[in-house]
Amino acid sequence: ASLELGPYRHFMQKEIHEQPRAISDTFEQVIANNGFVPQLFGANAEAMLRDIEGVQILACGTSYYAGLTARYWIEAIAGLPCSVEIASEYRYRAAVANPKHLVVTISQSGETLDTMEALKYAKSLGHDRTLSICNVPESAIPRASALVYYTRAGAEIGVASTKAFTTQLVALFTLTCTLAKLRGRLNDEQEAGYLDDLRQLPGSVQHALNLEPQVQVWSERFAPKQHALFLGRGVHYPIALEGALKLKEISYIHAEAYPAGELKHGPLALVDEAMPVVVIAPNDALLEKVKSNIQEVRARGGEMFVFADLDSQFGESEQVRVIRTPRHVGVLSPIVHAIPVQLLAYHAALARGTDVDKPRNLAKSVTVE
Ligand code: G6P
Repeated sequence: ASLELGPYRHFMQKEIHEQPRAISDTFEQVIANNGFVPQLFGANAEAMLRDIEGVQILACGTSYYAGLTARYWIEAIAGLPCSVEIASEYRYRAAVANPKHLVVTISQSGETLDTMEALKYAKSLGHDRTLSICNVPESAIPRASALVYYTRAGAEIGVASTKAFTTQLVALFTLTCTLAKLRGRLNDEQEAGYLDDLRQLPGSVQHALNLEPQVQVWSERFAPKQHALFLGRGVHYPIALEGALKLKEISYIHAEAYPAGELKHGPLALVDEAMPVVVIAPNDALLEKVKSNIQEVRARGGEMFVFADLDSQFGESEQVRVIRTPRHVGVLSPIVHAIPVQLLAYHAALARGTDVDKPRNLAKSVTVE
C-alpha cells in the first residue's frame, strides 16, 4: 500500500490531491470534441436531449450533493426546471412522471442499490430518457441507462468521496452547457467562455490545495469540538452540506449545514463559544447577504471560519478567521470551494486519530437496502 500511497498518509489525502488531474481528465472529452456536443453522452443523445422539458436528478450521499449543486446551473444556464431527490425517498413515493423529463442518476460506484432501484422505478413510470453520471465503467447503473457520461476520477478507495464529487460536478456542468446549447441559450462566445473556465479549473483547484497548511492549523482548533455548523448560500449551500457530511463521516464531529439565510429560523439558538461556524463565502451575488448573516453569529459569540476568495474583502479578527483562495472563478466556484472543506475534515480526523480511509459503520458502496 505504501507504494500506491506515494508521499501521502491516506488514500483520502492522495485522492484530494489528485483532483486537478481527475478534473482535467473528466473534461478532456469536451475539449477533444471542440465543445459541448450531445455525442459526449452517447450516440443517440441528441434526439433524446433536444426537446426535454425538465431534469430529475436521483442520487445518494455525496452524489446527491453534486446533484443539488447542478440544479443551480441547470435552471440558470439551461433554463430547465430541475428537481433533485434522494434515491431512497423517490423510489417509494407515488411520483408524477413527465416522460419529457430527463432522469439523471449520479453514482460514483454505479452499484448503489437505492439509486439503481430509483432508476428502475423511474423507468416503470414511463421515463425512457435516462442518463447516468458514473465513475465505474460498465457498472450496473450506467448499463441500465440510455445515456452515460463517465467521470475520469480513477479508482476512489477512501470511503469518504472527494475526487468523485468534483468530477461529478464537472460532468454536470458539461451536461448543463450541452442542454443550454441545444436550447439555443449558449452562443459561441459564451461557449468559449465556459470552455475557458473549465481549462482554468485544475489550476484554481491546485491553488485551493496549496492552502492545506493553513487549513491544518484551523483543524487543531476544530478537533476538540463536539459540534459544528456549516453555512453557505445559493450554489455554495450544497458545498456547506458536503463539508458537514465529510466532517461527520471521518471525524465523528456532529455537523449540520444550513443555508445562511435560514439561520434566524432555528440554528442561531445553538450558537455560542463552543460551536464553530464554517462559512463558504466567495465573492458571488449573495456575498453581502452572507456578511450580514455572519454578523448575527458574531454578535452571539460564535467563532467563525470563513472560506472566501481574495475579492470577498473580509475583515479578520480573533473571532473571524479567514482563508482565501486566490481569485473568484465565477460559475465553477463551488468546485474550488469543495477543496478546503475536504481538507478541513481530513485534518480534523487526523487530529482526532480516527480511521480516515475506513470510518466506522460506513461502506464505500452500499449495495443493500
Ligand atoms: C456511500 C459512500 C458515500 C457515497 C454514497 C453514494 O454512502 O460512503 O461516499 O457518496 O455511498 O455512493 P455512489 O457510489 O452511488 O456515489
